[in-house]
Amino acid sequence: MAKKILILGVNGFIGNSLSEALLRKTDAEIFGIDMNNDKLENCLQHPKFHFTEGDITINKEWVEYHIKRCDVLLPLVAIATPATYVTHPLSIFELDFEANLDIIKKAVKYKRRVIFPSTSEVYGMCPEPEFNEETSALVTGPINKPRWIYSTSKQLMDRVIFAYGMQHDFQYSLFRPFNWVGPKLDDILNPKAGGSRVLTQFIGNILRGEDIKLVDGGEQRRCFTYIDDGVDALLRIIENKDGNANQRIFNVGNPKNDYSIRELAEMLVKIIKTYPKYAKQAEKTKIINVSSAEYYGKGYQDVPSRVPSVENAEKYLGWKPTTDMETLLRNTLDFYLK
Ligand code: UGA
Repeated sequence: MAKKILILGVNGFIGNSLSEALLRKTDAEIFGIDMNNDKLENCLQHPKFHFTEGDITINKEWVEYHIKRCDVLLPLVAIATPATYVTHPLSIFELDFEANLDIIKKAVKYKRRVIFPSTSEVYGMCPEPEFNEETSALVTGPINKPRWIYSTSKQLMDRVIFAYGMQHDFQYSLFRPFNWVGPKLDDILNPKAGGSRVLTQFIGNILRGEDIKLVDGGEQRRCFTYIDDGVDALLRIIENKDGNANQRIFNVGNPKNDYSIRELAEMLVKIIKTYPKYAKQAEKTKIINVSSAEYYGKGYQDVPSRVPSVENAEKYLGWKPTTDMETLLRNTLDFYLK
């Protein structure tokens, strides 16, 4: 296992869970930066966890110094809520692309290994029944649909990183999370429609006594992946046994948890009815339809179906997701409701 690991955005959904797992399961030393630390209560006191409060776009010297100092870098800072792609596309470009490009260039300069978060969104509206890292087409919509700025910003980062691998022997691994969910995903108290991802949005709707809104009927499907499964894949990528993760792309998703958004809403309501304190709220919840134009605005377009092939992760990392939908929902609800 690598000795010194640098995590940018360490307080984020992936960063904090990964840090906890690294501290619990390995002897790695973690250096992390974030603007907040509210999700790090289980890490902050650990002798091998070094936290700095800061912004990667401002504290550039800190970042450069630590890239030099560490063995592996995970740049996890990004905006990943679709509502923001539509309302503030330039913020996505500036943070997810420009700021991260700067970091990748430094990693190339100091010859450091990078584990970079690509996204399931790069496949866009690819019509294939299962998405493959090496063969699937990446299909996005027209420029007047800014929803795709996240997908294409990430795609160009993937291509740049790949090219550094080709021309400079840059050591990287790209991972593509497929709708990772679990405790500490988003703030469920954020009442803004689209302010969080669908699972936390729906939990918040039920708790606030609001209707659950199915965008364009809720027939679109996602494969929901439990954060612990995702983190397990990341631990294997960091370990990089026999160099097996080097210069490879990994879909990290659970093809068995393939559900429509309507099914997700129905499952959630049903399960929340089993929590005595919230049963009444769940009984009252109505599931209604809204158009995507009404919910997100005209710049939105959806991904109808998104199933990962996880053969690469199985072959090179010995990884397979194990958490089914019911368990993943119950664990997440236990965190938010208990
Ligand atoms: C997400 C985000 O782009 C990123 O978080 C991430 O990179 C990626 O996918 C991933 O985690 O794999 P998406 O799955 O569309 O994209 O994001 P959600 O906001 O979780 O929405 C899922 C689906 O639920 C969409 O079809 C959306 O229209 C629908 N939805 C969302 C509703 O029907 N109602 C709502 O209130 C919210």
